[in-house]
Amino acid sequence: MKTSAFANQIEGSKTLAVTARVGELRREGKPIIGLGAGEPDFPTPKAICDAAKNAIDAGYTKYTANAGIVELREKIANYLNKLGGNYTANEIVVSSGAKPAILNALFATCNPGDEVLLPAPYWTSYPEQVKMAGAKPIILQTTEATEFKITANQLKNAITAKTRVLIFNSPSNPTGAVYSTAEIDAIVAVVKKAGIYIISDEIYIELVYDNVQTRSLSSYREIAEQLLLVNGLSKAYSMTGWRVGYLAAKQPVIGAVNRIQSHYTSNACTISQYASVAAFDLSKEIMDAMKAEFTKRRDYVFNKFSSINGISVPKPQGAFYIFPNVSSFFGKSHNGVQINTAMELSTFLLETANSAVVPGEAFGAPENIRVSYATSMENLKSALDQIENALSRLR
Ligand SMILES: Cc1ncc(COP(=O)(O)O)c(C=O)c1O
Repeated sequence: MKTSAFANQIEGSKTLAVTARVGELRREGKPIIGLGAGEPDFPTPKAICDAAKNAIDAGYTKYTANAGIVELREKIANYLNKLGGNYTANEIVVSSGAKPAILNALFATCNPGDEVLLPAPYWTSYPEQVKMAGAKPIILQTTEATEFKITANQLKNAITAKTRVLIFNSPSNPTGAVYSTAEIDAIVAVVKKAGIYIISDEIYIELVYDNVQTRSLSSYREIAEQLLLVNGLSKAYSMTGWRVGYLAAKQPVIGAVNRIQSHYTSNACTISQYASVAAFDLSKEIMDAMKAEFTKRRDYVFNKFSSINGISVPKPQGAFYIFPNVSSFFGKSHNGVQINTAMELSTFLLETANSAVVPGEAFGAPENIRVSYATSMENLKSALDQIENALSRLR
């Protein structure tokens, strides 16, 4: 029996080999420190958990409208409007995480064979989701020299008659890069002129450090008809397991998204939706405390990696990842085993430094590794010391 051509074109997660090995090593009793996770280590704030308990007690345990409860969609519209947008609750569809929101966006905009522009390094699911929507990912390569950001010129030159969508992600997973307002202005001008769609994945927008001047794409009202804005509660509110994300767009796109979602997941978990309403009412101090802790850790990991011989890395300005270039270690060996790829280096770090990182191959950047600092300072210090030590043993 054969699986479908559709299934066969979808690659499994490249991080799985490392994840599986982490499990094996932990079962063997090895004290592996996980720097691979894409989720905050903080508990979900209590007010959010309490709202979920109250929702259960109040009997909010049935289906909701496919697009989500009005109370939540109003909070979301309000939030986006504070960022400069112009949305009503009817222009929001709540999904079971940002991941299905992005897939909804692609399903709603792409025809078979359409080209979707994807700046690399990219979040690992984008190319596979583009393929799932029947479209073709076209990679826009970036380097450390531009802090892993595309330029407006690069975008302009990549647009063809077949280009349908640009996927834009700032702050970026995996690089932590944040586009400045001026850089976004220039990109928006190209998008507007070309008349293509832009899916802006802003799931890390609450995690921007150093007062970098940036803007939500929702505030560029001149491209409102072309914009599919994606965000979610997972990262900003430490709610990865609750599965709440959303998409904001104008008609006819939002209507298409609503129809599409009504045939696969339907509404996001009802209890999580009520909890999410409380998230939007959370006090600023709670959010600021999380951000302050991430800033401290970002500074530590950046200073430490910058001081390691053979590593080059731009300073991340958002999210909770750092993306060092490790290619100077390729061709070196330890105990007779040569390291030639980021994948092999990640395995080496797992086995020699008890530290799990994600190889850059997963993000279209084979010279880098992604290190998440969404773990305690104690873990970071211990892992980075072990990584430094392990790298110094490569000859
Ligand atoms: C850039 C980016 N977009 C979307 C998601 C998906 O988030 P969610 O947990 O809401 O599905 C992630 C999660 O890792 C992410 O890093």
